Amino acid sequence: MESKRKFVHHIFESIYDKYDFINNLISLGLHKKWRRDAINRLGDISNCSIVDLCCGTGDFTIALAKKAGNNSLITGIDFSENMLTIAKEKASRENVKNIKFVHCNVLTMPFESNTFDVATICFGLRNIVDYRQALIEINRLLKPNGKFACMDMSHPTIPGYRKLCYGFVKYGVPFIGKLWANKPNEYAWLFESMQNFPDKFQLADEIFAQGFTYPKIKTYAGGIVALHVCTKTMN
Ligand SMILES: C[S@@+](CC[C@H](N)C(=O)[O-])C[C@H]1O[C@@H](n2cnc3c(N)ncnc32)[C@H](O)[C@@H]1O
Repeated sequence: MESKRKFVHHIFESIYDKYDFINNLISLGLHKKWRRDAINRLGDISNCSIVDLCCGTGDFTIALAKKAGNNSLITGIDFSENMLTIAKEKASRENVKNIKFVHCNVLTMPFESNTFDVATICFGLRNIVDYRQALIEINRLLKPNGKFACMDMSHPTIPGYRKLCYGFVKYGVPFIGKLWANKPNEYAWLFESMQNFPDKFQLADEIFAQGFTYPKIKTYAGGIVALHVCTKTMN
C-alpha cells in the first residue's frame, strides 16, 4: 500500500504543470460544466464549513468557494505540494479568499470528528490507495446530516461505447500525455486506476455501507463520469 501511495504521489508531483491543460483537452472542456452541475446539486452551501478532498489544482475548490460565498470557509486538501502550489496561485489570481489549503494525506487528516457541513471529492477517490478507508474518514469528518458529493470516472454501461471509452483512456490519454507533457507512463495511471474502481451502483452501495444515505447518482458523457450525492446518517 505504501508503495502505491508513493507511486500516486509521484504521478501528481510530476504532472502538475500540464494537469489543467490536459484535463481540458481530454474532456473537451466539459469538466467545467460537470463541476458546476455537481456543485448545484449540493443545494445551498452558504454559511458552511466545506472540505474538498484531493483538491489538486483547485478548480473544484475555487468553484465551491465562489458558489458558497464569503460566509463559508472551504478547506482544500491534497498530498501533492506541486498541485497545491498551482491551486494557491489560481485562488490568489482569482481573488478568492475563503479557501484554506492544507497539505496532508486524506487518510490521516488533522481534523476532529463532526467538523464539516459539506465534504466533496472530485476525481480523487479512485486515486486513494484505500478508498474505503477514505469513505470512513469522510464520514467521521462530517457533521450529522452533512452533505457528501463524489465525482469520479466510472464505467459506461452501453457495451460499444464502453469499449470506445476504455480504448481512448487506455491508448489515447497516454498518447496525449506523451505528446504534450512527455509523460506517457504517468497518464497511463488514469486507465489503471479505473480498472479496480467500482461502477456507479457498486460505489453507491459502498458509500451507503459507510453510514450515508443511499446516494443519488448522476452520470455525464454517457457514464464515463459519475456523481454520487448523499448525506451522512451516522458515525
Ligand atoms: C485527478 S486529481 C483531482 C484534482 C481535482 N480534485 C480536480 O478535480 O481536478 C487527484 C488528486 O488527488 C490527490 N491525492 C491522491 N491521493 C491522495 C491522498 N491519499 N491524500 C491527499 N491527496 C491525494 C493527488 O495529489 C491529486 O492532486
